[in-house]
Amino acid sequence: MAKLLPLVLILLCISYSASADFYRDAEITWGDGRAKILEGGRALSLSLDNYSGSGFQSKNEYLFGRFDIQLKLVPGNSAGTVTTFFLSSQGAGHDEIDFEFLGNATGEPYTVHTNVYAKGKGDKEQQFRLWFDPSSAYHTYSILWNPQRIIFLVDNIPIRVFNNEEAITGTPFPTSQPMRVYCSLWNADDWATQGGRVKTDWTKAPFVATYRNFNINGCVAGSQCGSGSDSKLKTEGANNNNWRTQGLDANGRNRLRWVQQKYIIYNYCSDSKRFPKGIPAECKRSRF
Ligand SMILES: *[C@@H]1O[C@H](CO)[C@@H](O)[C@H](O)[C@H]1NC(C)=O
Ligand SMILES: *[C@@H]1O[C@H](CO)[C@@H](O)[C@H](O)[C@H]1NC(C)=O
Repeated sequence: MAKLLPLVLILLCISYSASADFYRDAEITWGDGRAKILEGGRALSLSLDNYSGSGFQSKNEYLFGRFDIQLKLVPGNSAGTVTTFFLSSQGAGHDEIDFEFLGNATGEPYTVHTNVYAKGKGDKEQQFRLWFDPSSAYHTYSILWNPQRIIFLVDNIPIRVFNNEEAITGTPFPTSQPMRVYCSLWNADDWATQGGRVKTDWTKAPFVATYRNFNINGCVAGSQCGSGSDSKLKTEGANNNNWRTQGLDANGRNRLRWVQQKYIIYNYCSDSKRFPKGIPAECKRSRF
């Protein structure tokens, strides 16, 4: 019965996909006027000053889906700033899938931090450099979450895959708690940049990051979701239901390998000091 539960939940939610509209799909949750919807709903800017950061969240909660957003990060001296795009459930034993962008001094590279929590357990960090300047133009960041795996993508290039191996290794995987999308810009200069050594230069405030083309193809928790014969699916998600079973093809695996070889700067799986009793079980299996 426990094994059937995720399937039942899939059948209980509606497939949802439409072009981006921050008015319709998001709500600004904090920042007291520092978050602004722009371009008639197509874009949203967050700002941070020495009093407060800001943030927004999706109106709906989803149980699986593909979540894309374009983002232009804080330019120039972004030291101490953290810009986020993540999914999270609520309450104890929560699930979470994270993209966090740690700012840096002018001319120094951003760090892209990723993590997965399932049933309250995280500690699965991988960090990357990017192959472009993420503050000079919009780039697309995506989280694909289906019952088999989580894929993190940058401009459609897979940078990380976290497989559901719960049945094999016992490593928890998020399958049953609906998650909301959260985005924020906040200050963490006690740890974010070069381990907290480089502080935020508040004379450069306000710091601004802009999000655009918020696009969700997913299952809205609590409604009807479904089979291919569901007319909603045909009209709203016609070509966009690949996420339900998407994995990596040979090309995807090659690109993932390229990123994992050239751009990874931290991998919890390689951090033997942190796991003196042996690296986590899921790390022992093939990474690709
Ligand atoms: C924030 O910055 C402004 C302008 O630089 C300054 O006047 C103010 O005292 C600062 N406030 C805090 C809480 O640091
Ligand atoms: C900032 O730049 C330094 C020097 O290039 C680098 O070591 C560090 O990882 C970068 N990122 C952060 C978030 O500190």
